[in-house]
Amino acid sequence: MTTPDTGAAAGGDRASSTGAAAADGSASAAGAPAALVTGAAGGIGRAICERLAADGFDVLAVDRAADPALPGSPFAADLTTEAGNYAAVDAALERFGRLDVVVANAGMQHVAPLAEFPFERWQALLDLMLTSPFLLAKRAWPALVASPRAAVIVVSSAHGLVASPGKSAYVAAKHGAIGLVRAMALEGAEHEIAVNAVCPGYVGTPLVERQVRELAARDGIPYEQALEQQLLAPHAVKRLLEPREVADFVGFLSGPSGRGFTGAALSLDLGWTAR
Ligand SMILES: NC(=O)c1ccc[n+]([C@@H]2O[C@H](COP(=O)([O-])OP(=O)(O)OC[C@H]3O[C@@H](n4cnc5c(N)ncnc54)[C@H](O)[C@@H]3O)[C@@H](O)[C@H]2O)c1
Repeated sequence: MTTPDTGAAAGGDRASSTGAAAADGSASAAGAPAALVTGAAGGIGRAICERLAADGFDVLAVDRAADPALPGSPFAADLTTEAGNYAAVDAALERFGRLDVVVANAGMQHVAPLAEFPFERWQALLDLMLTSPFLLAKRAWPALVASPRAAVIVVSSAHGLVASPGKSAYVAAKHGAIGLVRAMALEGAEHEIAVNAVCPGYVGTPLVERQVRELAARDGIPYEQALEQQLLAPHAVKRLLEPREVADFVGFLSGPSGRGFTGAALSLDLGWTAR
């Protein structure tokens, strides 16, 4: 899977794109607005796809495997590779003829002390959660410039704002993603491209369930105890977020009411970072 880095995404030509802006700046009569969502098979990504589809978007649902059961139009890509990210953007433009919203959500976790942290895992986490948002936005940029109301949303984390031990790569990637968001917001401002980071606390998804299971096994304690003592400890409100709560926020940022936000790292963390 090789894709030349021409930067010339289809649909980037405002005049010829089927998604060209209507004269009044509203969404084009040529079709529904289009969104690309990564990590679509996961807990948060699936909920985001459902929310954006319900809001009237054509959605390219990108994950490692193209699962036809996913909400939206499924597409398989390895987002730790340059070619995989470009292929995903190109597929959205081929299928929909336009691209208005990019949600960089795919993620993974690896917990280990710094001295034992495997370099390959460090690299993979950085590739997926910092470099992938950059590559997606870079490839999509001409199409986003052509869109009447574009948005790039990176699902960062409370760990984009504060750290926890054992999570060096995750914390570094999520902090870096917020820096990337701020830089892209400044470049996007003149083109009406809003760029924001959403920073959730712990959400009830497979990514978190894996962590709780590992902590419970490590400490020889029940799952519920590991959840309460370890993961919920930083939350002021002692519960997990639901994927739908993150998805609704992404939906808000993708719609007309969210246009005042750009360059922001938006906490949705049940009081974690209020401390
Ligand atoms: N769950 C939480 O508590 C929580 C909290 C804050 C932030 N986040 C962030 O939210 C995002 C979604 O997390 P989630 O909890 O839904 O996780 P999840 O494990 O349920 O889903 C992650 C998805 O990313 C996909 N993915 C992983 N590597 C990939 C690759 N190389 N190419 C393509 N797809 C790949 C996986 O297949 C999976 O479907 C992540 O960026 C995560 O860091 C999660």
